[in-house]
Amino acid sequence: MSDEQVQEFKLNEDCELRFVAGEDSDVCLEVVSGYAEIFGTELLQNKKYTFPPKSRVAVFTWKTATVELVGVTESAYVAESTPMIIYLNINAAMEEVRKKREEQAFHTGKTPKGPRLLLVGPADVGKSTVSRIICNYSVRQGRTPLFVDLDVGQNNISVPGTVAAVLLQKTADVIDSFERNSPLVLNFGHTNPSANLSLYETLFKELASTINQQILVNDEAKIGGMIINTCGWVDGEGYKCLVKAASAFEVDVVIVLDHERLYSDLSKELPEFVRLTHVPKSGGVEQRTPQMRAIMRGENIHRYFYGTRNSSLFPFTFDLSFDDVVMCKVGTEKLPDSCLPFGMEVENHEMKVVVLEPSIEIKHHLFAFSRSTTPDENVYKATIFGFCLVTEVDMANRSMTILCPQNSIPSKVLVYSEVTHLDDRMHA
Ligand SMILES: Nc1ncnc2c1ncn2[C@@H]1O[C@H](COP(=O)(O)OP(=O)(O)OP(=O)(O)O)[C@@H](O)[C@H]1O
Ligand SMILES: [Mg+2]
Repeated sequence: MSDEQVQEFKLNEDCELRFVAGEDSDVCLEVVSGYAEIFGTELLQNKKYTFPPKSRVAVFTWKTATVELVGVTESAYVAESTPMIIYLNINAAMEEVRKKREEQAFHTGKTPKGPRLLLVGPADVGKSTVSRIICNYSVRQGRTPLFVDLDVGQNNISVPGTVAAVLLQKTADVIDSFERNSPLVLNFGHTNPSANLSLYETLFKELASTINQQILVNDEAKIGGMIINTCGWVDGEGYKCLVKAASAFEVDVVIVLDHERLYSDLSKELPEFVRLTHVPKSGGVEQRTPQMRAIMRGENIHRYFYGTRNSSLFPFTFDLSFDDVVMCKVGTEKLPDSCLPFGMEVENHEMKVVVLEPSIEIKHHLFAFSRSTTPDENVYKATIFGFCLVTEVDMANRSMTILCPQNSIPSKVLVYSEVTHLDDRMHA
């Protein structure tokens, strides 16, 4: 069932209009009067914002607003109850911490460090959206926070299978979210941390230490603080990972979204100086099936190479000889103990870097361009230049065709990712 073509909504204070654009229809939004924002980014009055099909949006107002939608919507309704005030208070508390530390620093002469906030919760509770809202509020406060995304499934900064951080100087674009300028990215190569826990933990610790080094020379980034998004794995090893991440990033605030047991467990485990808050999830958050998650991962990879409708990118396609690159992979199969020579120590197979022999199997896989010049442990410790996608493999000529953001490769060391993508644009 589709709704009317033109719809007008009058929003009262603290209400939000939630809508989903139709399967095949753009929806054009305009604030006709009043003040409204989308996930923390202010909307300009009388500007037309065009959302692509299937977009899921919430238009919130702190005052009042009249909003017009043109196009087919799958659903559109006004919600009177939202947790936005809680997010605003979290932002206010973060800003208070910044101000207090700035004052203290004035006396001690040290550069002040901003608050670091970790967002945790199960899948589909709105973690990414809340990170976006709080990041936006920090930017609107005149700060430049670091947005860190440890979610290797649905990463909001780089392709799936990565952990990444980006310094935010602008609020998120209403349609395209945050700019992904010069992010720090580490390649994990899997969409679930459980695929290689040792590597996952090593990577987020490396990311934390790289960030700590970089903010030594950037006072604004240091006081801006961090907003850290995580993945929805909150049980068993996943829970332990969250505790380790809190420690690695030296967080002072942990926000638990919609999970009382997680809140209770963390309250017993986290050090006393960490402020722990439990917040409800928004009624607008959507549940996603594994199929929907897979589609979103594909869209994320497509965006990495081709950009968005409003900000297109033009990637290159060219051939590479196997002899001109070194392909490698982190993690090998565990050898049964019986296979080990007597007296030989068991090495951590999860952290082993092995050279990958080219084969047809690499077709459709992402490969990271490593900053390391040799296929050794620097491969996972170093941040990467970016990714290419193998679109063809020619075993007879020992070469492959890649899709690449630039027209030459920035590094000869290519690191395998289990993540695959079918480049539909090429065959269209
Ligand atoms: N208030 C809201 N109104 C309408 N839609 C919303 C609202 N908040 C979030 N959403 C939508 O719900 C979906 C899921 O939210 P989000 O991605 O933030 O959840 P998540 O907890 O990060 O999920 P995941 O476990 O996949 O990481 C998104 O499409 C988002 O746009
Ligand atoms: Mg998320």
